[in-house]
Order: sequence, then structure tokens, then C-alpha cells
Amino acid sequence: MNANREQWGSKIGFILAAAGSAVGLGNIWKFPYLVGENGGAAFIFLYLICVLLVGLPVVIAEILIGRTGQKNPVGSFRDLSKGNPFWIGVGVLGVITGFLILSYYNVIAGWSLGYVIESIKGSFQNLENPLAAGELFKTLSSMPQWTLLFHGLFMILTISIIYAGVTKGIERASKIMMPALLFLVIVLVVRGVTLPGARAGVHYLLKIDFSQITGKTIFLALGQAFFSLSLGMGALLTYGSYMSKKESIPDSAVNIVILDTLIAILAGFMIFPALFAMGMNPAQGPSLIFNILPVVFNSIPAGYFFRIIFFLLLTVAALTSTISLLEVITTFTVDEFNIPRKKAAVLLGFTVFVIGIPNAMSFCGWQNVRIFGLTWFDFVDFISANIFLPLGGIFIALFVGWFWGIKKAVPHLLEGTTNLPPFLVSTWTIIVRFVAPVLILIIFLSSIGLI
Ligand code: TRP
Repeated sequence: MNANREQWGSKIGFILAAAGSAVGLGNIWKFPYLVGENGGAAFIFLYLICVLLVGLPVVIAEILIGRTGQKNPVGSFRDLSKGNPFWIGVGVLGVITGFLILSYYNVIAGWSLGYVIESIKGSFQNLENPLAAGELFKTLSSMPQWTLLFHGLFMILTISIIYAGVTKGIERASKIMMPALLFLVIVLVVRGVTLPGARAGVHYLLKIDFSQITGKTIFLALGQAFFSLSLGMGALLTYGSYMSKKESIPDSAVNIVILDTLIAILAGFMIFPALFAMGMNPAQGPSLIFNILPVVFNSIPAGYFFRIIFFLLLTVAALTSTISLLEVITTFTVDEFNIPRKKAAVLLGFTVFVIGIPNAMSFCGWQNVRIFGLTWFDFVDFISANIFLPLGGIFIALFVGWFWGIKKAVPHLLEGTTNLPPFLVSTWTIIVRFVAPVLILIIFLSSIGLI
């Protein structure tokens, strides 16, 4: 036990912080547009299978490494592998992935904050169709001063929470923001499903059309499960390192996964019924919430008010996720280089802001700077989310299943649990050793075009 390490003040504190990390732009921005482009209920069905079959067991494995190692990703892998350079490398990969994801995630988070301000200013009041909203989105995101201002402001918000520490910062913020978020989502779902004509949208989300399922949908669903659960780069590992051995990991993991999945599905129910009620096409791609929603709210009674709530919700969700990303690289720096936490938080936050500038500029002036044909933003998104996360997931499963080994892992897993049925432990063992690595490998190879 590492006596100097901070610990969560309560079990619910850990669950809300980890769920806060998981619930983010992935749930409210990405999940709905993936559903809209990939067959509605059929995609949701596949997503649920991926979360249950691969997501939950690997979430448990990742938290377990952190709680047992009691350190950042690099330190935990180093201690548990007795200094094996390969596994240290896996930890390093996680920290680098944290840097990369935060550097572009924070740009979109900045847009949501910017949209709160624009909504309050009434900038969307007179937009008549999605085309006009799309134009406005292009105008705003292509103004360096607008994009960089909110990128910077959002980073300052993130730094200030990490600066305050684990319990006083992350835990306290999550305990306030997560209930607020759930409340805002429910307000918007009720608004959406009670609109005249909303029924078609509800139908779209519930009626599975199996003919919509293809290899690509399965691949997208698994990738989304990883991204949405914050899985594969050491964020859950780091949060797990602040967890007490008196608490049950499987229990907490189930709660985190349920909250994350529930909010993704509710996000569907707050967007599609309203979209169908307005007679719009759900297959809009990544700009769905920025182009379509501002207009949707114009046709809704009290739309001005609900639009502010919506973008506020997006901002809050993004903030509990950006703090988890900054926390990973901060603890790494504190543990490994003995730099005080506050200093590390400010320095690293500033560095990520700078690394993030090319991501922001990918929308304003640097559209033609291409790496393998992708803009800088798309490139960073692709290598971190589609390559590094699944790779990290495979390594986590292999580490727990084979290298550190089930024999050593299970006693640590059982700490804090009461009466965990043995068949659940054996199911988890089989998934971590065989099912998860094989499935992720298939997804991984197909995402880089090898199969
Ligand atoms: N899960 C978050 C979302 O859905 C994003 C996120 C936060 C994340 N921390 C992460 C993704 C770590 C991958 C790894 O928006």
C-alpha cells in the first residue's frame, strides 16, 4: 500500500469520477451520429453486445492493474511485471495516447463551450435550415481566434480541476456534474419524445433491422465501445489506483458501464425523436449535433432555453472526460519525475494546448496540411482512437490473462468483493485470456485495412 497516494473519499466518488470520464463527447456527439449512419437500432444492438462481451471484462482488468499497482500506467506495469521493458512500453504508449486524445478532444470540447456562449447570444435564433447552421459552424470553427480562444479556455477549466487534486478536484467536480448531467439529459429526452411526430424517432431506436448489420458496423461498434468507456490507455487504470481495496472492482465496473451505456442511449432518445419530428435525415455524420440541432431547437417551443441546456450538457460531459485525460499524464509526471502536482498540471495542460493548436488549425487554414491524406486532426484521431486504444486493450487483456497471470490476478480481484459467484470469475477469465484479445485483434486489423 502506498501511504502517500490520495484515495477517493467514497465508493460513489470513484464510480462517478470514472463514469464521468466515460461519459463525454463520445456518448452525446459520436454515438448518435454513428447510430444515425449505421442503421439505428441494429447499431445499438451490436454496441450493447460489444460493451458486454469485451468492454466490461477489460474495464475490470484495467482497473485491477491500477488498484494493484497503485501507480500511474507506466509505474503500475513496471511494478507488476518486475521491470519488464515491454510492459513498461505499454504504459508509455498509454501516456502518449492520453496526450494525443486530449490534444484534439479539447478542441471539440472548446466548440461546445463556444456553442453555449453563442446560444446565449442568440446566434442560432434565425437559422432556418441545417445548411445555414452548417455555414455558421464552418464560419465559427474556421476563425482561429474563436477556436483557439475556446480551446484555451477549456484547457484552463480542465487544469483548474486537476490542480485541486483527486478528492477536492476530480471527485468533487464529478459529484456535482454527473447528477446535473443526468438531470439535463432527462429534461431533453422528455422534451424530445413528447414532440408531435416523435414516434418515428422512437421506433427508429427500438426496431432492429438485422439486414443493416455488416462487418463495418461491428467494427465501428467495438471501436465506439472502447472510446466511450475510456478504455485502453490507462485512464481507468489511473482512477483505479486511487481506489480502496475494501471496495469491489466488479461491482464498480458494472455501475460505470451501466451509466455510460445508459447515457449514450438516452442521448439517442434526446436527439432522434426531435430530429424525426422535424422531418430531418438522421444520417448526417459528425456534424450532426452542430449543424442539425441548433435548427431543430428553432422549431421547438422554448427552443432558445433548451438549446442552451443542450450545449451546457455537452460541455459538462466533455469536462469530466478531459480531466481524466489530463490526470493520467499528470500522475505519470508526478510519480516518475517527482514534480509537484500543481506545477505538473499547469505545465502539461499548457503543453497539450500547444500540441492541440494544429488540431484546431485543421479547421481554419490548415485544411490542406495532409498526413497520409488525412488532416492533422483526423490523423491524430485515427492513430489514437483506432490504433492505440485497441492495441492498449489487447495488451491489458494479455497482461492480466497471461503475463502477470490469472493466478496472481484473481486474489486481487476478489479483494473487496463478497460472494462473487465462481462462474462469473471463470467467465471473466475466459474472456480476458481468449475472447477479448482475439476479437480486438480482428477489429484492429480490419481498422487498419489488413483484413
Ligand atoms: N470516453 C470519453 C467519451 O466518450 C472520452 C475519453 C476520456 C477517453 N478519457 C478517455 C477515450 C480515455 C479514450 C481513452 O467522450
